[in-house]
Amino acid sequence: MAEVVFKVFRYDPEKDETGRVQEYRFEPEPGWTVLDGLNHIKWNLDGSLAYRRACRHGICGSCGMTINGKNRLACETQIKELGTNVITVEPLRGFAVIKDLIVDMEPFYDKLYAVKPYLITKTPPPTDKERLQSPEDRQKLDGKYECILCGCCTSSCPTYWADKNFLGPNALLKAARFLFDTRDEGFEERLNAIDDKHGVWRCHTIFNCVEACPKELNPTQAIVDLRKLILRGRL
Ligand code: SF4
Ligand code: FES
Repeated sequence: MAEVVFKVFRYDPEKDETGRVQEYRFEPEPGWTVLDGLNHIKWNLDGSLAYRRACRHGICGSCGMTINGKNRLACETQIKELGTNVITVEPLRGFAVIKDLIVDMEPFYDKLYAVKPYLITKTPPPTDKERLQSPEDRQKLDGKYECILCGCCTSSCPTYWADKNFLGPNALLKAARFLFDTRDEGFEERLNAIDDKHGVWRCHTIFNCVEACPKELNPTQAIVDLRKLILRGRL
């Protein structure tokens, strides 16, 4: 492949007052992803570059970053498919930068914990079998359970940029994943967090989250469904 220029955001809190852009030029092998390019830089050109990655297969969610202006997984983004030899790589927007491409995900996880992202049950389970669910009820969770917690959706949300207390699309999608699970009995426990001006009612249906999600999930629809659920509960 022809030479590419990676313009990578760099920030070292021990040395830099603000972020800067550093250029790296190299010839990628055919089939390289942006993550392969970053690995090449780290392993052969500049070992000081910091970024997160683990699985290389779009599963762990750790390589979410902004590539040529869009939130994507670096391990799923083919360099060739970007259609340009100039590739900008920046940290996810809306989160504080710890170093280079590594952002502070703690606030993101705090929002997730706020919606109690686990099955809540009150009635005792059957003594002779698990809590069963029909295939039809299980299907209601499709599009809600596949999230890999990459943060691309929340990072792309202008409402989250403006209101750091907003739960954000990821946490609300996760709330929906459990509230629409027929085995769950945690509606009341989650209600305080989601039925709030920083919860479902803060979303302005901008749809950036839908566009940003590498798993093609639809947090906006989940938020609309949660609103209906809350309103039905009030009737
Ligand atoms: Fe990532 Fe999609 Fe989950 Fe958001 S909903 S954290 S974009 S996988
Ligand atoms: Fe795991 Fe990219 S490295 S999703």
